[in-house]
This record gives sequence, structure tokens and C-alpha cells, in this order.
Amino acid sequence: MLTKVVIPVAGLGTRVLPASKAIPKEMLTVVDKPVIQHVVEEAIEAGFREIILVTRSGKQAIEDHFDHHYELEHELTRKGKHELRAAVNDTLPDDVEVVSVRQPQALGLGHAVLCAQHIVGGDDFAVILPDMVIDNPDGLRDLSAMAERYRSSGKGQIMVESVPEEQVQRYGIVDCGGTTVGAGESAEIRGMVEKPDPQDAPSNLAIVGRYILPGKIMSLLENTAPGAGGEIQLTDALLELTRETPLEAYNMRGRVYDCGNKAGLLQANIALGLRHPETGEALREFLTEYKW
Ligand code: G1P
Repeated sequence: MLTKVVIPVAGLGTRVLPASKAIPKEMLTVVDKPVIQHVVEEAIEAGFREIILVTRSGKQAIEDHFDHHYELEHELTRKGKHELRAAVNDTLPDDVEVVSVRQPQALGLGHAVLCAQHIVGGDDFAVILPDMVIDNPDGLRDLSAMAERYRSSGKGQIMVESVPEEQVQRYGIVDCGGTTVGAGESAEIRGMVEKPDPQDAPSNLAIVGRYILPGKIMSLLENTAPGAGGEIQLTDALLELTRETPLEAYNMRGRVYDCGNKAGLLQANIALGLRHPETGEALREFLTEYKW
């Protein structure tokens, strides 16, 4: 059963300061919802039912967003604003649970995932990096496709996309032994490296922040030494895992927006805003007329 998803939200959001000084970067909005709600909806659509937030002090607004707000619900009901009340209530379906654990120190993504070990137990689970908002305008979402692929093959899946060569040092890069992986397809991973120098990168296939992983990864993370940037890297534990069990790289079909940086957040707002029934027309008109 694949029901648990770990979402690390303990980052400080330095790339979107000063916006993220007093509110978590995950609460910045894309059109009408905070970034975190977009990714939680993606997880729910893919069949996940237990959302495990790995959080820190100062990030309570994220938990509040998925909780009831009785005063607001009462006021909206009293004023007959039923649609708005539903929007406020619908942040989380009744059969989905959000729990949180703390990451006491910023020791890296691998460490953040390990902080959820006692909740994940031995189950297979997913990891979603909330900065990355994935847009699949034409149908099946990539995370859902990955989950299907995992369910049919039993193999862990890591979402990747091709990036320009000069950007490889920003990402975990996977080596599929030179196999061409078509969009929407998976191929076995032969190696991977976190943030390589371009001349050492085995390919240009970058990890984009969606993973479906065997429970076994937790015990490997326990023994993972600090790697790139002095942090405990999930990529290093995954490389270790490939020595025991096959893992696949899933090449995404959609488009990813890095909402942990200013340009990505604006692009996501434009792309999703152009398709939103309440904002699409006005935004299209504005972009057509705007002179710069
Ligand atoms: C993390 C992962 C990296 C991945 C990236 C995607 O790095 O360690 O492998 O490619 O997310 O955004 P970070 O961006 O946290 O440095």
C-alpha cells in the first residue's frame, strides 16, 4: 500500500526573501492557493492519504491552512457565502490526514526525510519537494503516472527532466547508462550524483523533486554521511539503494516551476493564472496590452 507522502517544509526560503520573512515560502500563492496546497492536491490525486510534513518553528501557518478555521466557517455560513465556505473547508478531504514532525536542525534533505522515519515505519512512501509545482495541463499528472508505474513494477521511481548542461550543478543528476528515456517513460538508474560539476555529470537528467521510494531507504539514510554542501543528501542514500534494488528514473511529461525562486513563482502564476476561470481572461488581456 502506497499511502504516505513526506513533504519537507523546514527550509528557510532565502531565495524568496523578503516575501518569506514572516510567512513560510510554502504559503506564497500561485493564483488563489498557497504553493503547499497545489502539491498536496497533486499527492491526493495520485492516491496518497497520509501527508507527513517535516517542519520547523515559524512555519505553523502551513498546518493551520489544512486545519478547520471555525470562526471563518461560521461567518461565511452566516453571510450565506457557501462557495467560499466550501473553498475554506476543501483544503483537505475528510479521508486525508496531515501530521507533522520537526526537523530540529537544517542538516539536508536526506536528514529531513529521516525525521519522518517513525511515522513512515517500514512502508514504501513518496517524497515531494514543495518548491516544485508541476503543471500537467493535458490530463494525467506525472506523479499519478509514477505511482501507477510503481504499483505495476514494484520499482521505486524518481522523476527527472532534461536540463541545460550549465544547470546540472543545481540538481541531483541520474545516469541511465545512455538510454534515451522518452517523456512519460521510465528507465533503470545506473548511478546518480548530487550537484556535479558540468564536466563530471553523467547526463543532463535532473531530479525534479518527486520520489516514490522503498521503505528500506530509511535505514540507508541512517548511515549516510554528509555529502555535497556538507548536508546529508537523499541522492547519496538512493545511489546506495541502487546497489541492492533497481530504481527507475521517470521522465516527466509536464512542466515544472521552481516556486522557491522569484522567477519560477511568477511563471507559475502566469501559466496557471491564464487557465483559471476567474483570472484567465483579465490576465490574457493585460499581457497583450502591457508595454515594457
Ligand atoms: C534537492 C535535491 C536534488 C534535486 C533538487 C530539486 O536539492 O537534493 O537532488 O535535484 O532538490 O529541486 P535542493 O534544491 O534542496 O538543493
